[in-house]
Amino acid sequence: MSAALLDGKALAKRLNQELVRPRAALLPRPPGLAVVLVGEDPASKVYVGRKGEVAGRLGFHHRQITLPADTSEAALLAIVDSLNDDPAIDGVLVQLPLPKHIDATRVLDRVSPDKDVDGFHPENAGRLSQGRPRFVPCTPFGVMRLLDDVKIPLAGRRALVVGRSNIVGRPMAQLLEQANATVTLAHSRTAELPGLVRQAEIVVAAIGRAEHIQGDWIQDGAVVVDVGMNRLEDGRLVGDVAFDAAAERAAWITPVPGGVGPMTIAMLMQSTLLSAERRLTTT
Ligand code: GUN
Repeated sequence: MSAALLDGKALAKRLNQELVRPRAALLPRPPGLAVVLVGEDPASKVYVGRKGEVAGRLGFHHRQITLPADTSEAALLAIVDSLNDDPAIDGVLVQLPLPKHIDATRVLDRVSPDKDVDGFHPENAGRLSQGRPRFVPCTPFGVMRLLDDVKIPLAGRRALVVGRSNIVGRPMAQLLEQANATVTLAHSRTAELPGLVRQAEIVVAAIGRAEHIQGDWIQDGAVVVDVGMNRLEDGRLVGDVAFDAAAERAAWITPVPGGVGPMTIAMLMQSTLLSAERRLTTT
């Protein structure tokens, strides 16, 4: 392996302990984060558990609301309403995916834009697309922070984002473009993905398919950010990029796990802190 690791775990820890925690301690009450989990998705349970652990370590007020898979949309909307109105709560996050009988868009639209620490409300998505963000989706926000930490130049460089979800790919492309990269957004219908990867100086993979991006597609000296988290049948956790072969060529690469995942949580904490600071200093 010749690539250097983009160590999200270490940076997340540093940001949490050195930035978020001391600032949270200055507030008259702790930042409040509510996380709503509907159903039994095993990966979601793990993610929600981690968010709770980190929030607890930082001294946040943390509330996890766990609901059965057959919860009605109306009941979920009522819970979102009550969290929107709760003065101890600064951030409201509804974990995705939601069960199929619930219209996820309607639920995300209901989260108050002032507490939408996920940045999924159309008002926040629209603000980001216009380059005047309030809350930025945590995963792409964390990727930008990770690239910034090791001073990877972005201006004028060719960046490829693979995946066009509202959670990762689309906001990721917008953030890279706003940092003056020349961005290509590839997706499941893209023709000739290997050729696009070969041209990219920065690759962000957010497709959700195990090791879909092969190592020999990566150009020498590229920066590879792997947002994927795929569980193989043998139990191994792998990203969307074939790590070992990609690391032979890349200059920088994120490990899976320990790359993007911890940064996502750190950015959630930072957004919740900012939300609390806004709420507590404007009233
Ligand atoms: N499911 C996968 N990633 C996310 C995320 O960033 N936020 C929420 N709410 N759900 C997710």
